[in-house]
Amino acid sequence: MLIKNICCIGAGYVGGPTMSVMAEKCPDITINVVDLNEERIKNWNNPDLDKLPIYEPGLRKIVEKCRNKNLFFSNLVKERIEEADMVFISVNTPTKTKGLGAGKASDLKWVEACARQVAQFSKGHTVVVEKSTLPVRTAEVIVSILKEVKTSVKDTEKSKTFDVLSNPEFLSEGTAINDLLYPDRVLIGGENIDAINSLVQIYKNWVPKEKILTTNVWSSELAKLTANAFLAQRISSINSISALCEVTGADVKEVSRVIGSDTRIGSKFLNSGPGFGGSCFKKDILNLAYLSEFFGLPEVSSFWESVVNLNNWHQNRISRLITKKLFGTLSNKKIVILGFAFKANTNDTRESAAIQICKNLLEEEAYLVIHDSKVKLEQIEIDLNKNVLGSNFKEKNKSNFFKGGNWDFAEDLSEIFHNADAVVILTEWDIYSELDWKKIAKIMRKPAWVFDTRSVISIKQMDNSNLNFWQIGNGSI
Ligand code: NAD
Ligand code: UGA
Repeated sequence: MLIKNICCIGAGYVGGPTMSVMAEKCPDITINVVDLNEERIKNWNNPDLDKLPIYEPGLRKIVEKCRNKNLFFSNLVKERIEEADMVFISVNTPTKTKGLGAGKASDLKWVEACARQVAQFSKGHTVVVEKSTLPVRTAEVIVSILKEVKTSVKDTEKSKTFDVLSNPEFLSEGTAINDLLYPDRVLIGGENIDAINSLVQIYKNWVPKEKILTTNVWSSELAKLTANAFLAQRISSINSISALCEVTGADVKEVSRVIGSDTRIGSKFLNSGPGFGGSCFKKDILNLAYLSEFFGLPEVSSFWESVVNLNNWHQNRISRLITKKLFGTLSNKKIVILGFAFKANTNDTRESAAIQICKNLLEEEAYLVIHDSKVKLEQIEIDLNKNVLGSNFKEKNKSNFFKGGNWDFAEDLSEIFHNADAVVILTEWDIYSELDWKKIAKIMRKPAWVFDTRSVISIKQMDNSNLNFWQIGNGSI
């Protein structure tokens, strides 16, 4: 079956970029991205491309080329589902906060709502594609909703039919466009060979055939959770070793280089940092742990849960360490936080290590000046659950008045270091590796500290700076 019209439900970090790339590579297919969030859609349609709701290198150019040609963003969920012969479900699947499985299981209420919308509004035959990351066997739930709702619609619409495929997304934020253009693999799980082929044909427009892997639906759903769990496990593993390096005189960068040159281990994803963040690692591992428990495998469950536990411990370890180095008290001390996003090249702060670390420092009565050139002040207010101080922090620096347990926001780096007791680098933005520490040292209050949780500073840059320096996993300083 030849797909001519696609509807993607969910215009988020996955739906927006994925459909933009698909639209560019498949000019003969009309692609409609729909969302309930009016503000988000307004921003996707903003003529000023700086206002796109998501910051991803390369995204702007593709949206500029395809928008309103074969790529459309709207809130018209019903109408666009009606027209589509393939519907991608790309909505959020956060951890449940209440009821059965709270704190671990995925909340599927948005996915369920999509299935109901598709069952109600679709016409003729529709291929429903799970793009969201879902617990293994979710396709079963979608199929049963599609079947049940179908029987309750008008007689004239009973001819509608469906196929359900799993096509999880492996893109990383910050490199989403590159990951979508040149994926390591595309995964399609399904039963009906015609439905599978219809999606294979789409990807074949730009992905080499040998990189398109087809499996049964359950393997596809589980492979996505497993991939994230393995990646996160590597980070917890190297972060655990960083703590050991610090007390033994070893350097985690050297340890990573050595183990990474073993081709069986490989060199990627071995950078120790402040702990993994992002919207998915934690939720997907907790979901895997929940599923393991549900299927009667408590040992498997606790194995995976320990990856998240180590990550929580590691984030708290960093804030405890900062407090200890600053004589056990942060009261009346100014700390500059460089970076709030969960990694560089994204404006996303979901589960960013910066959130827990800043909360801990505020709890210790520190005064924080937080800089991030892509994250908005309003987002940090939501994440810290604490409003920004109202007055201008530059004035306060001059009068040397810091209000403990509070924070200010800095859009640029000028003047933020005045009278600071410490600088903590939490995101690896390029600009932070180019700072002139000798100059900065002159305006900080002594004894002054620099804490580099991302290894963006080379020890040489610190020579003769008169700054105390700590770097993640570096026991040789
Ligand atoms: P997101 O929160 O950025 O976007 C989801 C969007 O879906 C929101 O804008 C929301 O308004 C919309 N939505 C929810 N229910 C809807 C409905 N019934 N009708 C219309 N719109 C609806 O989420 P995201 O980061 O794009 O993630 C989506 C899925 O992809 C998740 O399952 C996630 O685990 C997975 N995933 C995310 C990434 C990533 O890098 N963010 C990568 C791979 C996979
Ligand atoms: C991750 C996966 O890499 C994607 O394949 C997956 O599609 C996605 O989750 C998802 O399902 O949401 P993402 O969260 O965007 O992508 O970003 P990553 O590059 O994986 O980084 C996650 C976290 O790990 C970040 O906080 C990052 O700073 C940290 N990290 C990563 C390290 O601390 N060290 C590393 O070596 C790599």
